[in-house]
Amino acid sequence: GPSSSSIDMDMLKEREIDRNRLQFGQLLGEGAFGHVVKATLQQPDEDDVVVAVKKLKDDTETTTRTALLRETCIMLLCGHHDNIIGLKGICFRDGPLQLVLEYAEHGSLLQLLWTLRAESKHNMAILSNKRHIFETMMVEVCSGLEHLASNRLVHRDIAARNILICGKGTAKIADFGLARDTYAVGYHRQERGNDLLPLKWMAPESLKNEAKFTDKSDVWSFGVLLWEVAQLGRTPYPGMNGADRIYDALYNHFRLPMPRLCTEERYRLMLQCWKFNEKTRLDATTVRKRLEEDPNGFF
Ligand code: ADE
Repeated sequence: GPSSSSIDMDMLKEREIDRNRLQFGQLLGEGAFGHVVKATLQQPDEDDVVVAVKKLKDDTETTTRTALLRETCIMLLCGHHDNIIGLKGICFRDGPLQLVLEYAEHGSLLQLLWTLRAESKHNMAILSNKRHIFETMMVEVCSGLEHLASNRLVHRDIAARNILICGKGTAKIADFGLARDTYAVGYHRQERGNDLLPLKWMAPESLKNEAKFTDKSDVWSFGVLLWEVAQLGRTPYPGMNGADRIYDALYNHFRLPMPRLCTEERYRLMLQCWKFNEKTRLDATTVRKRLEEDPNGFF
């Protein structure tokens, strides 16, 4: 998994960006350890480009600095994919560590779902008009997951808050590490050691053993993401807290209930992402094909 990957400084140096090329704008998101700020990046021979810059609050803390460097290496190892937020480069000389990322104009999928929930309160027709947009986004996230799996990378925090929507409406997987806590204030997290864990998105094997994250645990989280979409951004398992409590419920066959705004077929797909035994759980490719075969599963 990514947590065991080492930091390759030579690889990082090849992607160095001079921090003087950045002009900062508004704050995009804030978390416990860092924030993301909108900025423009001046390019020597091209037009300026809008970017998102992830910075640490306290850059003197070695562990968070290491985490950000590791995140950068993971993104570099991952390579380019249309459904994964691109890494433009990194500033590490003469100041705090800064990750320069592709900017996603429409913000997070979670915010989009919250907006849609508010709009649809008075006009349910909005939902059926937007159905295909969300189906497409879910297929795109699956493609991103397939790319990660084929590069033997595990994201560990697939959730609506970590899916960003770019200008053309393309969904992209973001937050390979630290800024997992960037835009949603820690309502779903529980402190365990020094780590903040997205318990309600975690597969049972990850809840039981923190080190056990695989491509199949990402698929479990993807199932919870499907549920978040159908529930217009509601929080899973309201009122249920603690890793042990969630694990026990899952062990006893309890699952998130069927949302009102999806088909039984779509719910069956979620349940197949939530197979207790990861060996019988679907892989991202199969999930993507199922979504493509059934483009009317939401709302
Ligand atoms: N918030 C966090 N990361 C972002 C990004 N890359 N683009 C826009 N908003 C963000």
